[in-house]
Amino acid sequence: MSSIVSEIETQLHTGEFAEAVLAGLAQSRKSIPCRFLYDARGSELFEEITRLEEYYPTRTEIGLLKDHGAEIAERAGAGCAVVEFGSGSSRKTHILLEALTQASAYVPIDIDDAVLKEATSRLGADFPHLALYPVHADFSQDIRLPEEIEDTPKLGFFPGSTIGNFDLDSAVDFLADAGDLLGPKSDLLIGADLQKDTDILIPAYDDASGVTAEFTLNLLRRINRELDANFDVPRFAHRAVYNDDVGRIEIYIESLADQKVSVLGRPFTFKNGEDIHVENSHKFTVPQFKALAQDAGWETEQVWVDENDLFSMHYLTRP
Ligand code: TRP
Repeated sequence: MSSIVSEIETQLHTGEFAEAVLAGLAQSRKSIPCRFLYDARGSELFEEITRLEEYYPTRTEIGLLKDHGAEIAERAGAGCAVVEFGSGSSRKTHILLEALTQASAYVPIDIDDAVLKEATSRLGADFPHLALYPVHADFSQDIRLPEEIEDTPKLGFFPGSTIGNFDLDSAVDFLADAGDLLGPKSDLLIGADLQKDTDILIPAYDDASGVTAEFTLNLLRRINRELDANFDVPRFAHRAVYNDDVGRIEIYIESLADQKVSVLGRPFTFKNGEDIHVENSHKFTVPQFKALAQDAGWETEQVWVDENDLFSMHYLTRP
């Protein structure tokens, strides 16, 4: 990429971030969309979260992929193209592709060009027989798959219970759009975190060593750095709350004092105890998730759950 193009891209990104933050902080109930948590430092901290003792989802889902790889491969059949929504660090992809010895292509879709390039080159080295078609895009927007795999059967892959970070209506929309993108007769392998005791849930989102707190508060540091703001970060705190009515973890950044903050020259006031909402993470029962998939036009072929009932992996097909 020429430097002028990357310069313009950076400005576009800053513009979008600025707009979202200014609009989000101007609301009576302040909120900032969760995708802005993942700048370079945020992605690093999230990677650290996935390795925490308290954060069970990553290792449990990896266990499910390892234990059931052969069954997944059998269902996927020979020659399929794996299309991953938000490829991230691709640790799970590696395990999936190792099981799918007969896959023909891998199509990572990611909003972060650097992450995409890095994942593609690593997987290319480890799986030389796979055709790689990276797609640099926001998977929640309209996207197109490369022409080369038009006639190839597709297996979508959406791990991490990222589906739980959408509102329930948007989750159905996303799954329906994914079905349209992948096409008729496609399959989708998707991870969904399960409802469980808050004694397990809360620490997963508020760990003893404070990595998760650092992850959410990094958003304020990012705003300070990129949007000429003056958040006094120690006067804010990370909060993880379980909303029993909706069945979801809600993540907030709470103001610990009455205070004023300026962002891009605009003033915002915070009352002591006032929150900025930054994330929802829905927890499902297996029947609930099946119903959600069905609402989006998918049929559930198989569900795998670990022995401790922590996490579920669903194999869906497009009837
Ligand atoms: N997809 C992850 C989840 O819902 C994201 C996540 C994990 C997260 N821990 C977090 C988001 C803490 C915000 C704050 O499990």
